[in-house]
Amino acid sequence: MEVCQTIAGIREYVRRARERGAVGLVPTMGYFHEGHLTLMREAAKVCPTVVVSIFVNPLQFGPTEDFRDYPRDSERDLALARETGVHAVFMPDTAEMYPLSPALYVEVERMDTVLCGRSRPGHFRGVATVVAKLFNIVRPDSAVFGQKDAQQLQIIRRMVRDLNFDLEVRAVPTVRDSDGLALSSRNIYLNAEQRVAATVLFRSLETARRAIQSGERSRPAIEKIMVETISAEPLAELDYASVYRLPDLEPVDSLDGELILAVAARFGKARLIDNITMRIPG
Ligand code: PAJ
Repeated sequence: MEVCQTIAGIREYVRRARERGAVGLVPTMGYFHEGHLTLMREAAKVCPTVVVSIFVNPLQFGPTEDFRDYPRDSERDLALARETGVHAVFMPDTAEMYPLSPALYVEVERMDTVLCGRSRPGHFRGVATVVAKLFNIVRPDSAVFGQKDAQQLQIIRRMVRDLNFDLEVRAVPTVRDSDGLALSSRNIYLNAEQRVAATVLFRSLETARRAIQSGERSRPAIEKIMVETISAEPLAELDYASVYRLPDLEPVDSLDGELILAVAARFGKARLIDNITMRIPG
């Protein structure tokens, strides 16, 4: 497995790898769990060369967020990537990615005014900008993202369309622990009690899903079910519990078509998110 810390290095690697066929990219911030590894395996299904990037992107963290504390373990990450069959890891430092403070960004309209965009101003601009840079650096044929970060996934799909990136975006379903908690690098922040409490996120989504399946068609009623389920957990501090329309995250009046049910809450220092999607016949 090749490890490149420079843009020139990964470009040279990809130039040679392209002779073998398609190149797949899995952008990450490292501290791998089974979710990340599933993305890498998905890329390997469609591309003979899999490149993984590991970069904790300062641009997508707010001033009071966990950029400094974000968990990092590059040795373990490199071992896991190697075991998973990854061909190259691009691991730049901040000066390599941002030698100058940026004068231009990929600005997100509307789709960043809901859900996580509300409590994390500038976050999706930071994500879109770094992912655009990674696309330009690696020039992959496919890029793989997780459904776990559904708003990020939809914004990137829209960026690829709006800015004509010549690549295919593939999505992987959320990988969960046996008790339903979505795997996240931030789960490391949870103590034993918070870890148990955090299962309320998926339970709230499942309760809402069952209500819809039993015929409930009022959006406020569904949001109330999720809010009340999460609020009943004393260790959870609710951020949002909402329903939006896919793919563009528009507000929902009638519960039909492609919908996303999304929740976010804080458990101590950890801000965790989860979502499910549903297709409801009109
Ligand atoms: P990170 O949080 O490291 O996630 C990297 C990729 O793994 C994302 O596409 C994310 O959706 C996916 N992922 C995380 N947890 C998952 C799970 N439990 N199941 C399936 N996929 C999961 O997302 C980022 O990094 C950054 O914002 C990035 C896109 C790299 C830009 O900096």
